[in-house]
Amino acid sequence: MYKLIVLPGDGIGPEVIVEAVKVLQAVEQKFDLRFEIEEHLAGGACIDVHGVPITDETVSCCKETGVVLLGAVGGPKWDDYPLEQRPEKALMRLRRELEVFTNLRPVTVYDRLRNYSPVKPELLKGVDILIVRELTGGLYFGEPKKIEKWNNEERAVDTMVYTTSEIERVSVAAFEAARKRKKKVMSVDKSNVLATSKLWRKVVIDVASHYPDIELQHMLVDNCAMQLILNPSGFDVILTENTFGDILSDEASVFAGSLGMLPSASLGIGKGMFEPVHGSAPDIMGKGKANPVGAIKSLAMMLRHSFGEDSAANSIENAVSDVINAGYVTADLTAEGLKLESTSEMGDRIVDQILTS
Ligand code: IPM
Ligand code: MN
Repeated sequence: MYKLIVLPGDGIGPEVIVEAVKVLQAVEQKFDLRFEIEEHLAGGACIDVHGVPITDETVSCCKETGVVLLGAVGGPKWDDYPLEQRPEKALMRLRRELEVFTNLRPVTVYDRLRNYSPVKPELLKGVDILIVRELTGGLYFGEPKKIEKWNNEERAVDTMVYTTSEIERVSVAAFEAARKRKKKVMSVDKSNVLATSKLWRKVVIDVASHYPDIELQHMLVDNCAMQLILNPSGFDVILTENTFGDILSDEASVFAGSLGMLPSASLGIGKGMFEPVHGSAPDIMGKGKANPVGAIKSLAMMLRHSFGEDSAANSIENAVSDVINAGYVTADLTAEGLKLESTSEMGDRIVDQILTS
C-alpha cells in the first residue's frame, strides 16, 4: 500500500487531478497496486475556507507522507492579496518545508505534434530536454524580501543568494540524470554579472570532476534563451538556478506544442512533490478545455521517483504517447488534422490505452 497527498488547488487544478486519479486507479488494476489518497485544500481554495494558503496541518501531513500530487494554485480572485497571503505561497511553503530542491522538467516532443509548434518542425526533430531547476533557493526565497518606504518613494528588495551546498546538491542531481540520458549537461548562469552565478559555475565545475563520463558546458542565460529556439535539439540536460529555470521551462514548453503537456517532479531527500508545469488557467476553468497530460505525466514521475514503480510509470508514458500520436488532443492544441477531446475524454483514452496494452 502506497500513500500520497493530493492537493487539487485552484482553477483547472481539480479538473486535471481528477484525470490523474483515474489513471492511478487504472494502474492499481493493471499492476495490482494499492494507493491510499488523502485530499487537502491548498491555494485560493484554502484561503477561502481557512484564511491561509495552506494550513500547518496540511503541511505536516505532506511532510510525513512525503509524496504530494498538486494541481495548480492561484486565480484573479486573490491577485490583490499581499505576497505572503497569496495562493502561490502554498507552493513556496511546500517546496521549502519538504526541501524539494531539485525540480525536473522534461520536455518531450511527440512526432504527431511537431507541425503544431510555432518553432519550425525540422528544428524539433529529436528534441528531448530535461530542465533541472534549483527550487528552494535564489530570488524566490532570499532574505530580505520587502517593499518599504524610501525617501519620498517606495523601494522593493529581493535577494538572490546561494550557498555552495545548495548548488552542489542540485548539480549532483543533474549529473546523475544526465548519466541515464545523452550524458550532456548545460549549466546556465549569468556569471558575467551575478555573484551567485560566479559561485554557481565554480561549484558545478567541481561537481563535474566526479562525473568524467558527462560532458559539461556553460551558457549565459540570455544566450540560452536564444539558442533554445535556434537549436533545441542541441540540448540534453539544462542545469540552472530557480528563476532562470522558471523562465526557460515556459520557453521550452513551446516545443511540446503547449504548456499543458509538461509534467514536473520536485525532489528532495526521500520526498517528492509532483505537479504539472502549467498554472491554474482560470479563464478555461470548468469548460472541459484543460489538458490533463501534464498532470498525468507528473503522476508517472511520482510512480517512478517516489515509489520505484518503473513499469507503471512507463506504461502511463507510453499510453500518453500512443494517444497523442494517434492525433487526440485537448483544446490547447486543437488544429486541423488533430482530433479535439475534452479533459475527461482525454483521460479516458489514456486509461483505455493503459488497460488494453
Ligand atoms: C512554476 C510556477 C511557480 C513558480 C509560480 C506559480 C509561483 O510558475 O512552478 O513554474 O514560479 O515557480
Ligand atoms: Mn513557472
